[in-house]
Amino acid sequence: MVIDLNTAARPAFDLFSGFSLCATLASLETAGLLAELAATGRLAPDSHGLGAPLLDYLAARGIVEECGDRHRFTPLGDAIRADIGYLVWLSRGYGLPMRSIAEFVTGARGTDDHAGRDGSGVAVGSALVGARDLVPQALDLLDGTRVTRVLDLGCGNARFLLEICRRFGATGTGVDEDSRACAEAEREISAAGAAGTVSVRQLDAGDLAALPGIAATDLVVTFFLLHEILAAGRAALVDHLRGLARRLPAGAHLLIAEVTPATTEPGQLFSPEFTLVHALMGQRLLDAPGWHAVLADAGFTVAREVRPTMPGALLMLARRAG
Ligand SMILES: C[S@@+](CC[C@H](N)C(=O)[O-])C[C@H]1O[C@@H](n2cnc3c(N)ncnc32)[C@H](O)[C@@H]1O
Repeated sequence: MVIDLNTAARPAFDLFSGFSLCATLASLETAGLLAELAATGRLAPDSHGLGAPLLDYLAARGIVEECGDRHRFTPLGDAIRADIGYLVWLSRGYGLPMRSIAEFVTGARGTDDHAGRDGSGVAVGSALVGARDLVPQALDLLDGTRVTRVLDLGCGNARFLLEICRRFGATGTGVDEDSRACAEAEREISAAGAAGTVSVRQLDAGDLAALPGIAATDLVVTFFLLHEILAAGRAALVDHLRGLARRLPAGAHLLIAEVTPATTEPGQLFSPEFTLVHALMGQRLLDAPGWHAVLADAGFTVAREVRPTMPGALLMLARRAG
């Protein structure tokens, strides 16, 4: 029997095209070229003559189609664009450490400095992901909550902080330890014309004494930060949250977004890769009961929680007890 390798299932080629498309689309998105293509049907400027072969490639993969002398996104292309943040987060944020993952296993490379991730790629990718799959649900969750002064720990590019402050007429401070994330945040704040009400500080969120204005804060936001503190152990995380609760005024709220760890369920869209990337940096994740227990130990009561559309994620609004 002769097996025709051209027609037999060769699943490695799904990964081959997936890798290439993920890297290509994330890069085009980051440079604003996907938006440009959607608006004009062209890839411009095209200083190296790469525009035509790139469009041919995207057409061959069903992302765009020719329309006269222009190109437009196909329904597949539109659906991928809607989730482009996940590709930016992975390819730009963690592409480099993921491509050398074996070196972390063998010990040739250490996981210090977050295994060499790109802080700006993580911040920009997270914000794009959040805009679709987290922010609408988070704003709903906050409905009816007093929000006059917001502190966003691990604020990334501060887009969510800006959105909350705009929605509630609040003032806000974002804190991020990564200089590239802070630079993105400064750009966003200035582009939004919000420099009078929202600011960003490059600080370690673990250093509670350094956090600005905490005693007057009625909402602390931590989206995808607390697992970073958990890397120092559960006791360190509880200590951190307990210290936060002690410094906040009575009735203050804490809004948390986290991704739960991968399970053995088939067909998980996001958690296995999210879990792996965080293991690479020496971080582990907690499931919903785990977060409830940590918050209770730290003096917070969960007031509301939802499962947002971000696969495997949870959103919790907790209140400082007492
Ligand atoms: C996954 S990003 C999320 C960004 C933003 N919260 C969002 O949802 O779009 C996590 C952010 O936390 C920041 N971060 C990690 N550890 C931190 C720490 N100890 N102190 C302050 N920021 C930290 C990272 O630099 C990164 O920008």
